[in-house]
Amino acid sequence: MVGWYRDTVETLYGEEQIAARVRELGAAISRDYHDKDLVLLCVLKGSVLFAADLARAIDIPLRLEFLGVQSYGDDIKSSGVVQITLDLTRPIEGEHVLVVEDIVDTGLTLDYILSTLKTRNPASVRVCSLLHKPARMKKQVPIDYLGFTIDDVFVVGYGLDWAQKYRNLPEIGVVKGT
Ligand code: IMP
Ligand code: MG
Repeated sequence: MVGWYRDTVETLYGEEQIAARVRELGAAISRDYHDKDLVLLCVLKGSVLFAADLARAIDIPLRLEFLGVQSYGDDIKSSGVVQITLDLTRPIEGEHVLVVEDIVDTGLTLDYILSTLKTRNPASVRVCSLLHKPARMKKQVPIDYLGFTIDDVFVVGYGLDWAQKYRNLPEIGVVKGT
């Protein structure tokens, strides 16, 4: 693929590297949940590409759910004020929920999601995040399965956006000059 974005985005993790890590995460999740009913909860919009690949790397039955959240702030900073824009289609009471996130930055969004989910009495809630930026963590949130730890840079691609752009890049990168 030529890549319309190659002039503006510097690759951090290429397609092969992402695919290899997703396979490893899928294998670990399959092992850990082989005797449980798993609900894979994709947090929209950022996690959609990751969750689609991860679901195919998980070799046990699962139920796929979506939670739409929007965190207010400017284009690159989250304020921690989170609004649910799309809710689950079924209750999760007594079920084992794995929240799939694109990135944990300050942790504020995930903290809000976890406290909301816990009020619905699931049997367990764990987190699988593709990326983690520990430098900016404000809320300590548990990440049970993690793709990559990154420095304090703003990344795009593979679901992650900058003002809604770049989500469809097949790789993860940094916008040049930012
Ligand atoms: P947090 O609440 O600060 O942890 O941020 C959560 C959300 O901010 C993520 O789900 C992303 O949508 C967005 N975000 C944080 N860092 C980045 C980044 O480097 N690139 C794109 N989106 C980001
Ligand atoms: Mg976002």
